[in-house]
Amino acid sequence: MIWNESLTLHNGVTIPQLGLGTWEIADDKVADVVKAAIQMGYRHIDTAQAYENERGVGEGIAKSGVDRKELFVTTKVEAEIRDYDEALQSVEDSLERLGLDYVDLLLIHSPQPWDDFRSDRHYFEENVKVWQALEKLYKEKKTRAIGISNFEVIDIDYLFDHATIKPMVNQILAHISNTPFDVIKHSQEKGMIVEAYSPIAHGEILHHPEIVKMADKYHVSVPQLCIRYGIELGLVTLPKSENPAHIKSNGDVNFEISAEDLEVLKMMERIENYGQFDKYSVFKHGINQ
Ligand SMILES: NC(=O)c1ccc[n+]([C@@H]2O[C@H](COP(=O)([O-])OP(=O)(O)OC[C@H]3O[C@@H](n4cnc5c(N)ncnc54)[C@H](OP(=O)(O)O)[C@@H]3O)[C@@H](O)[C@H]2O)c1
Repeated sequence: MIWNESLTLHNGVTIPQLGLGTWEIADDKVADVVKAAIQMGYRHIDTAQAYENERGVGEGIAKSGVDRKELFVTTKVEAEIRDYDEALQSVEDSLERLGLDYVDLLLIHSPQPWDDFRSDRHYFEENVKVWQALEKLYKEKKTRAIGISNFEVIDIDYLFDHATIKPMVNQILAHISNTPFDVIKHSQEKGMIVEAYSPIAHGEILHHPEIVKMADKYHVSVPQLCIRYGIELGLVTLPKSENPAHIKSNGDVNFEISAEDLEVLKMMERIENYGQFDKYSVFKHGINQ
């Protein structure tokens, strides 16, 4: 049984709390993965222009046999796009690749281009320009909700001061051993739903001894514990898998973590590095509190 609870965004749109991540699933493989996940009961798919798999994601959605209106599809405007017209055009291109008339959620992928990720150079004005494009697309019903990703407090505050329509979501790195509680709190106080990306730390915490021990205690897998952790914190959680058996078990998270154990997980020592995955800016630089 796939977890099918939802949260509600500040504009009243409901968002399934469990979504399938699709980063690094190749375009020619992702259709089968998405189709299988939807047929199992997943209702939320997370992609991005940068994943270069929107075409395949759209094909999987079309072949799933499930009514489009029952699905929640997210894409993200590339981090390198810093201009109103380019952002608008990029989303038109995304819709065409996806084969959809609208997406459910459109995000600015990052407050800074990846080459400047977490540098001192902020792109406040450029983010406002891209945001204005998202507002236009929202008004035109090309997307049912708009939001941000990887935004820290300083970027959030500037955008909120200049946005006509306030962002509904902040999608950020959050998992056991690296949960940015201050950014989560700040985002929630601004009225946003927080989405936890890389809930399994891209695979880096699969063999973490203390997490394995806790998972054993609940007779669940490490990914199930990681996914349930996000749910217990009131976050949307976006595990990626291209393995049907993993996708199925990742959705089977109808158990409760005790309040005491949740505290232990929240306090777990911060992961030192992401090993081979440190090559990615999102893991190398993380998120500053
Ligand atoms: N906004 C952003 O900047 C941003 C950044 C990173 C990620 N994201 C989103 O968040 C999603 C998830 O993050 P992620 O892709 O970094 O990784 P993740 O979900 O934390 O971990 C994925 C890894 O865990 C493995 N895995 C998953 N379920 C498993 C299971 N039941 N048993 C064993 N191994 C399992 C996967 O391998 P298999 O495929 O073999 O199962 C893969 O190696 C992304 O796909 C993307 O949609 C967004």
